[in-house]
Amino acid sequence: MMLQLSGVHAHYGHIHALHGVDLSVQVGEVVTLIGANGAGKSTLMMTLFGQPRASSGRIVFDGEDVTALPTHDIARRGISLVPEGRRIFPRMTVLENLQMGAVLGDPANLAVDLERMYALFPILAERSEQRAGTLSGGEQQMLAIARALMSRPQLLLLDEPSLGLAPLYIRKIFQTIRELNRDHGMTILLVEQNAHHALRVAHRGYVMQHGQIVLSGSGRELLANPEVHAAYLAGDRASGA
Ligand SMILES: Nc1ncnc2c1ncn2[C@@H]1O[C@H](COP(=O)(O)OP(=O)(O)OP(=O)(O)O)[C@@H](O)[C@H]1O
Ligand SMILES: [Mg+2]
Repeated sequence: MMLQLSGVHAHYGHIHALHGVDLSVQVGEVVTLIGANGAGKSTLMMTLFGQPRASSGRIVFDGEDVTALPTHDIARRGISLVPEGRRIFPRMTVLENLQMGAVLGDPANLAVDLERMYALFPILAERSEQRAGTLSGGEQQMLAIARALMSRPQLLLLDEPSLGLAPLYIRKIFQTIRELNRDHGMTILLVEQNAHHALRVAHRGYVMQHGQIVLSGSGRELLANPEVHAAYLAGDRASGA
């Protein structure tokens, strides 16, 4: 097991955001977490990094208890997050953003890793000297993913990568997720509101409600589940894509 959360609770002051979450990710899997706004999906991602810290429960990554480790130590152990809203550095160029993603890595890998990212996202090669803040939303999302990959993570966390993007970019993002997993063996934990696409690329999925996991199963099972359908798939514009 690459990642295992057992009974994880998290608070923001008096707000109790995670109510005992059990979730696991195996090596080589794409696991999707879906749920309504405010369910606690982003909090779960952030709690993996100790911000906020789990108030109880246990987080084990790659055989090691990381529940109490400082954020930078968790990152060093091979978890990389593309946060909700992307948070690229807008005044830096594309190249500088990618270099920032590599600061935890071995400088000897920089050139080859840049080439890998430019192969994965050719548009970033074309725009390497452009300020990141002037990229389109879809290009910024690709940059955010590429930046996260520059640290050569074992586990990639993606928080709503398709949010706010046009259909063409949404397809590209999900294609990239599939390619990273299938061709590069990347293990991915994906948070998405675009439940249809997300469950289709996922080996397994979890449904979160009010800070708890209420349902889990294979991507296929969840897609076919009537409750999931009613709550998260009905009216999904992307269902036909
Ligand atoms: N920094 C914070 N301080 C206080 N409360 C917070 C903070 N971040 C999130 N919360 C609260 O924690 C709960 C879970 O929020 P979270 O952002 O994890 O939900 P989410 O499932 O990611 O929602 P969305 O789909 O809208 O991104 C919400 O009630 C939210 O208001
Ligand atoms: Mg969120």
